[in-house]
Amino acid sequence: MTQETEATAAASGTRATERFREHKQAAAGTSPERVSRLASRVINAINDTVLEEKVTYDEYNAFKAWLIKVGEDGEWPLFLDVWVEHSVEQVANEHRHGTKGTIEGPYYVPNAPELASPATLPMRPDEPGTPLLFQGRVTNVDGEPLAGAHVEIWHADHLGFYSQYAPGLPEWNLRGTVIADADGYYQINTIQPAPYQIPTDGACGQLIAAAGWHAWRPAHLHLKVSAPGYEQLTSQLYFQGDAHLSDDIASAVKPELILDPTPRADGAGKEVTYNFALDPAE
Ligand code: DHB
Ligand code: FE
Repeated sequence: MTQETEATAAASGTRATERFREHKQAAAGTSPERVSRLASRVINAINDTVLEEKVTYDEYNAFKAWLIKVGEDGEWPLFLDVWVEHSVEQVANEHRHGTKGTIEGPYYVPNAPELASPATLPMRPDEPGTPLLFQGRVTNVDGEPLAGAHVEIWHADHLGFYSQYAPGLPEWNLRGTVIADADGYYQINTIQPAPYQIPTDGACGQLIAAAGWHAWRPAHLHLKVSAPGYEQLTSQLYFQGDAHLSDDIASAVKPELILDPTPRADGAGKEVTYNFALDPAE
């Protein structure tokens, strides 16, 4: 067994929970009225389900045990980012005219190494996978180039594992902040990520198995694109032909976000162009 295949839900879930605590802030200014309204709606939705579905004590206790386990496994970030974040993202980004956003997911790490374009992401000397040249331009919604825009990219390796969450990977493997050139162009050499299976050995996996669902997300590149004076874009890009484009467990695929890489003329893997358009900051 390689080190990577020993990645466990407990390890990546706990890490995602620690990271969340380090970097995210609560909405401290939320009024009691708003808290009451939101909490009441969630509680009422659960009660309605119990009454309409005639939930038994056995089912109620299984639910209680499962909720306890989600916390013990550190899997609240995984659970929420798979089954809830897509709706939060929809609300947050419905005003945008530029490139579509989608969920951030649990595996973003800020402050990745900065690399001038053309860049090669940090990777192992023998990084397995199909080489991918990912390139394009960052503009505003009027098509004007955004010089020096930041294209932060992070993605899984050819087995679907993320550095800093799965053991045995170099700290910044397949993570970087690429600085676009004076005309807004960026070029990133990386490898094609593999489809990603959310950890199956913890509470989320238990739910998936008990419900007869599958655990797959299509292969994806995660991105945060930013430039001064513009709204930061958090998005993902997928790959044409992936088996899970239409049944992503995280409901985060959008048709505008699907890449169709072509073989490179020099035979060295694939290449694809994607242009980002950023909305002005409010
Ligand atoms: C999860 C993992 C991802 O890589 C992602 O993009 C979204 C969600 C998860 O395990 O919750
Ligand atoms: Fe992901």
